[in-house]
Amino acid sequence: MSRKKLIAANWKMNLTLEQAAEWLAEVEENLLEHHADVVLFPSFIYITDLMDLYQGEQILFGAQNCSHLETGALTGEVSAMQLGSAGVDYVIVGHSERRIHFGETNEAIKQKLKMALKHELFPVFCCGEPLDVRNAGKQEEYVSRQLTESLFALSADEIADVTIAYEPVWAIGTGVNATPEQAQEMHAFIRQQVAKKYSGKIAGEIRILYGGSCKPDNAKPLFACPDVDGGLIGGASLNAEDFLSIVMAAK
Ligand code: 13P
Repeated sequence: MSRKKLIAANWKMNLTLEQAAEWLAEVEENLLEHHADVVLFPSFIYITDLMDLYQGEQILFGAQNCSHLETGALTGEVSAMQLGSAGVDYVIVGHSERRIHFGETNEAIKQKLKMALKHELFPVFCCGEPLDVRNAGKQEEYVSRQLTESLFALSADEIADVTIAYEPVWAIGTGVNATPEQAQEMHAFIRQQVAKKYSGKIAGEIRILYGGSCKPDNAKPLFACPDVDGGLIGGASLNAEDFLSIVMAAK
């Protein structure tokens, strides 16, 4: 089963509009290889500006979050319906920073997944354990619960449009990344859970990205793991040159 690699840039709350436009121009000029899909997740306010600026076809655009509700009195929130109406392609759901700083529960994340799919967005579902869980050797139990209580509420048809991102919390923004062995072990476990719940075919087709201090110098061995289908890149995606070299590492 060969899955096309996907390399995504999650800019989080970084870059001004001017810096974002410069980044896009540089990446557009140098992104000549088509071996991987590329998705850019800027702040909400720049998504459509950047989509308008971009002349190419390889980069798709996504939002870093969406509301669990369709519409209504939720000041400061952005709905999946609004993202869909603006032509956005992807949405990140359940990032650990949303779970930690904004109290997102597995139940809310389940609702967000449903909303995203209803409005024809491709969700990137994030899961991953904190350090104390990893130290206690309970990471599989922990991730399995995140899958069961959110992702596995989807039907087999729905899950076909989802990308999973394994992002161990202890590796996010810390400079410590999972070793290729640790990443492969968890990715294989997640794929096995998908196979058990749905089918071997679905498990073989779903893409599982690695996220957590993935950089130009460690991307290649991570992407070489059989169950690692690309990366969700935070800090190293802010620099166009570094991001381009991570895309090249997926070749
Ligand atoms: P870093 O690459 O900065 O560790 O962030 C990973 C991440 O959270 C991507 O969503």
